[in-house]
Amino acid sequence: MNISVFLGAPGSGKGTQAKKLAQSYGYVHFSTGDMLRAAIQAGSEVGLQAKGFIDRGDLVPDGVMISIIESALAGLSKDARVLLDGFPRTVPQAQALDSKNHTAVTRALFFKIPEPILITRLTGRRTCRKCGESFHVIFLPPKTQGICDRCGGELFQRTDDMEEVVVRRLEVFKGQNERLMDYFRNRRCLFEVDADRPVDEVQGSLLRMLS
Ligand code: AP5
Repeated sequence: MNISVFLGAPGSGKGTQAKKLAQSYGYVHFSTGDMLRAAIQAGSEVGLQAKGFIDRGDLVPDGVMISIIESALAGLSKDARVLLDGFPRTVPQAQALDSKNHTAVTRALFFKIPEPILITRLTGRRTCRKCGESFHVIFLPPKTQGICDRCGGELFQRTDDMEEVVVRRLEVFKGQNERLMDYFRNRRCLFEVDADRPVDEVQGSLLRMLS
């Protein structure tokens, strides 16, 4: 399997890019955040376990996350090209992927962006309830306010995009990120992309790195 992982702070654009690459270039995309939100909506056991952590802006325990991603990858063919968005977030999660030959990480792409921009991006984000597409009230507004351009679904603000939770998520990210970057640096598979540019420019850089 060819597995690329998207690393970066909340709001750095990982989900926006991964969705576009999956729609246009045939990548299989897994967003652990989307999977957890779907589990919460379905009222499943995983959802019940995860909800408190997400609402506080904390990480869901590694054991839960590793088993979610292992089950998702288990159903794929050997020649699948996979984008993982939001996983791994800790060194034990990265080690779990690398511990099996067929799920070892091919490349890790880090979305580099100045912190002040992240708060504006996250607090202005609106997400489609139906298809998960992400918009922004200023940077990427929908054609009709409150309605998804892609599927016509209703747009809403994620509860963890409130400013106080955003601040906690950024702290949690900073607590893990250096160790995770060092892990992939030592594996010699880390690339950095300047994520503080228009969506299409970032995508062009990612496509070059992925090829
Ligand atoms: P998750 O949903 O993964 O949140 P995140 O990593 O914090 O990432 P975001 O979705 O907030 O940001 P993004 O980088 O995808 O940005 P986006 O493209 O949307 O996780 C949520 C929670 O689940 C976590 O806090 C944790 O509790 C739990 N969790 C998930 N995975 C876990 C794991 N592996 N281990 C433990 N816990 C886990 O863009 C943001 C905004 O900016 C949007 O409005 C977008 O339209 C706009 N935008 C994007 N790109 C651009 C651009 N180039 N220019 C201008 N605006 C842009």
